[in-house]
Amino acid sequence: MHYSEELIEEIRTRNNIVDVVAGYVRLQKRGSNHWGLCPFHNEKSPSFSVSDSKQMYYCFGCGAGGNVYTFLMNYERMSFPEAVKALADRAGVQLPQEEDSAEARQRENRRARLLEVNREAAKFFYYQLRSPRGAVGYQYLQKRELSDETIHRFGLGYAGKNGSELVQYLRGKGFEDELIKEVGLASHSERSGLTSQFWNRVMFPIQDINHRVIGFGGRVMGDGTPKYLNSPETPVFDKRRNLYGLNFARTARCGNMILCEGYMDVIAMHQAGFTQAVASLGTAFTPEQANLLRRYTENVLLAYDSDGAGVKAALRGIGILREAGLVGKVIDMRPYKDPDEFMKALGREAFQERIDQAENSFFFEVRILEGQFDMSDPEAKTRFHREIAKKLCQFSEDVERDNYLQAIADKYLIGVENLRKLVNSYAAQTGLERPVERPRSGIHPKNDPEESAKKAQRLLMTWLTDEPALYGKIKKYILPEDFTEEIYRRVAERLFRELEEGNFQPAGIISMFEDEEEQREVAALFHTSLPQLDTPQEREKAFHDILLSVKKNSYEYYTGKLGTDVNALKQAVEGRKALEELAKTHISLD
Ligand code: UTP
Ligand code: MN
Repeated sequence: MHYSEELIEEIRTRNNIVDVVAGYVRLQKRGSNHWGLCPFHNEKSPSFSVSDSKQMYYCFGCGAGGNVYTFLMNYERMSFPEAVKALADRAGVQLPQEEDSAEARQRENRRARLLEVNREAAKFFYYQLRSPRGAVGYQYLQKRELSDETIHRFGLGYAGKNGSELVQYLRGKGFEDELIKEVGLASHSERSGLTSQFWNRVMFPIQDINHRVIGFGGRVMGDGTPKYLNSPETPVFDKRRNLYGLNFARTARCGNMILCEGYMDVIAMHQAGFTQAVASLGTAFTPEQANLLRRYTENVLLAYDSDGAGVKAALRGIGILREAGLVGKVIDMRPYKDPDEFMKALGREAFQERIDQAENSFFFEVRILEGQFDMSDPEAKTRFHREIAKKLCQFSEDVERDNYLQAIADKYLIGVENLRKLVNSYAAQTGLERPVERPRSGIHPKNDPEESAKKAQRLLMTWLTDEPALYGKIKKYILPEDFTEEIYRRVAERLFRELEEGNFQPAGIISMFEDEEEQREVAALFHTSLPQLDTPQEREKAFHDILLSVKKNSYEYYTGKLGTDVNALKQAVEGRKALEELAKTHISLD
């Protein structure tokens, strides 16, 4: 679906961002902005701002920012068209039905067909399991202590030994061979033609949150390899962005989610009443999945296998959860290998106890670290303490760091003051971790001249959005070309044009950019912290300095391009004149 720019703007202006965000985040008015705890990173004091006049949000802690569309796309993980639709509905704007391109319609039809063929295959496997020939599969699931109700709820099935039955069934339902192959259910061979990929396995249909079958996992009933065979990625099966069991877990609402390693773990947990259990899809846990979980809870309990591989996966998972601003804890399953075995051996009450005792993820990391050092050797023990001190530097907030420091000192019998000294010396060397900062492309260190030129451009842009009336006074001196950073220049071109026309919509400018990183950068451009100055003279001087700095950088930039860029000469000559004039001109801010 493609919508016109006008329509997108109309829908945006009909949805006040303050009201929309207030539906998700508790906001308080302070000054000209509304403030709250940032929903995009973990924080304890509000650095997330929403501006009524700019119709934008921006977090001074993590740099998340954008307009009302960006907000829904990031918070609800909607695609752009989904966000447009949601906001159109909210404001009662009728969306045109016929505007979508033939290409988009075709893609949508293809997706629908892929889902249909999956659904039919799931049905086929399901009935096979209940037929005499599927008895082996049924017995296998019974042996694994799954009840009929559980088997039914998860839609488990069986793929028989005859590889052409599935294909015949699907052809009979009108699906083309192409489609059956694309969805990964069958492959072609010279000898036997098109035959099923899954053969003599119990089948686990993988569903998205709307209970649509998007792929399959098939398990051998014994010791064969591979133990699990999974559908390949397809246009409907994105392994990074789905979780097994989430279609049920999303409505469990018990204040946490439990992340397991395997399909069987999830099923065993749900059967025991822990319907908040999910698992990744035969691949490692991803940041996208962490974001998915964040829609439902901020507490994630890891129930990974207690073997070495499981511990390694848990350590990785903890990092991803922390990065997503989620609170991670680790459930200890020992002496059992995984939740499935634990449940069979000790049952649900015992598991609930393990949930209640789940270990704080930082303590878990330190405990695992401890295992790598020989504590009877003073040298190794010292290195262990140093590693702890380094790890403590990851807490940027003093109170939190100190609480952990004391707890760890108690637990490992380290002198609190000694440990504190060690932490301080590491903090002095490397600095404390800054509040969660998402990687940004092309970021430059602080005192880099290029970065300070960009900073001046950002300050000017923010100042102009805050006080649009100033545009009239500076337009003689500053042109969009003076913004030497490509993305800033595109913003300036549009902004200046709108200011010229007296119709200035900074939040609309964000919609010009499709890429999430670019949207953040543009939002940051309108939200640089301006110097807090008391007297009008100081303010005028600061503004003048910024203008000069932007102009001077632009002059140097184009001078440096003389001979390689045809426009450079004109820019340099005119820039020099403007710079000289600007230097002797007083610009009043009233
Ligand atoms: P496990 O080997 O722990 O399997 O792999 P499990 O879930 O405990 O299965 P059971 O109890 O032996 O039947 C964990 C997950 O890793 C993926 C699957 O998603 C599995 O659920 N996996 C494992 C594969 O995709 N392929 C494999 O060959 C093995
Ligand atoms: Mn298992």
